[in-house]
Amino acid sequence: MADTAVVERIQRGSELERCPFPIPYGWFVIDLSENLEVGEIRNVQAFDQEWVMFRGEDGTVGITDPYCPHLGAHLGKGGTVEGNNIRCPFHHWEYDAQGWCKKIPYGKVMPGIARRKPVLRVLPVEEKYGMIWCWYHPQELGPMFDLPVVEELENPDDHVPVRHGEWTMHTCMQEIGENGVDFAHLKFLHGSPIIPPGTCKLDGHHFEFDIGEGYICGKYYGPGAQVVRHTKDGVSMLMFSTPLPIGREETLSRMHFTFRNYAEGTAERTLAEHLYQHSIGEADGEDSAGFESVDMIVWDNKKYRPQPLLCDGDGPILKWRQWYSQFYVDDQPASVNAVAAE
Ligand code: FES
Ligand SMILES: [Fe+2]
Repeated sequence: MADTAVVERIQRGSELERCPFPIPYGWFVIDLSENLEVGEIRNVQAFDQEWVMFRGEDGTVGITDPYCPHLGAHLGKGGTVEGNNIRCPFHHWEYDAQGWCKKIPYGKVMPGIARRKPVLRVLPVEEKYGMIWCWYHPQELGPMFDLPVVEELENPDDHVPVRHGEWTMHTCMQEIGENGVDFAHLKFLHGSPIIPPGTCKLDGHHFEFDIGEGYICGKYYGPGAQVVRHTKDGVSMLMFSTPLPIGREETLSRMHFTFRNYAEGTAERTLAEHLYQHSIGEADGEDSAGFESVDMIVWDNKKYRPQPLLCDGDGPILKWRQWYSQFYVDDQPASVNAVAAE
């Protein structure tokens, strides 16, 4: 006779997906400002699709859907920048960075919809701290919160030049971020001498954590920006993390590091350099190893367990997941039907 009671069981690996999540909304760094010159066009992969990024004569950056609203040519394959606009290679229609059609070289009348609204999908863009930020929302809603303010980057003259690093990780951003609340793995994977005490705090699009009573303190500003400081003996090293979701199972993890401009040869300078090296790579002396040497093999190969088998020594993993889930929305744009009806 069939037993209809719910059976307590652990899901097998074959029942699990690696990254069962949509792309979250938020502000994301799509590239460094120095990588896009005036007049340049680049095709970039982000948010599980391709985009065309260009910089007009006035310096404004546009990030657009690749396919021309006219007859669908790819703007990033043979298109050019004309003034502040991107020009389609096929019939030379031009669009500005806000997605408005600015010119049809042979038409006498601009089509009605193009007179009333932008016709090319673009992402809201801002440039700050030498980075090109864009706001992504699957339903094309506008920004819901501001970019972070990072004290060290507001005062570059007091700090060493920012060091940028990039790592491609074969998993989604949520899985990478879960590390910040997984206090137990710091001992067993990273080689920390103890499981450090940790706390976390949630507040809207902010998520803060403190590992080792002030040793590593981090604050998220939505899923795409995380300010982390490693502090020892009064010396702090900034690790500003701006991960970009390339696809549902691929993340370009960018990190930007700096610290106070201590004079060469001082103990503070040596310690700051040490905190920098150690946050990324191999263990050194009594320190534990950074993410590059130990986390990547786990991230690149694990599967997500929606119902993990947790124990009392684990960090606030479910709290983290609950906070993160606010950035996932249905990916059907609210405007799709409205546009079709025009
Ligand atoms: S398809 Fe782009 S101008 Fe015609
Ligand atoms: Fe880790």
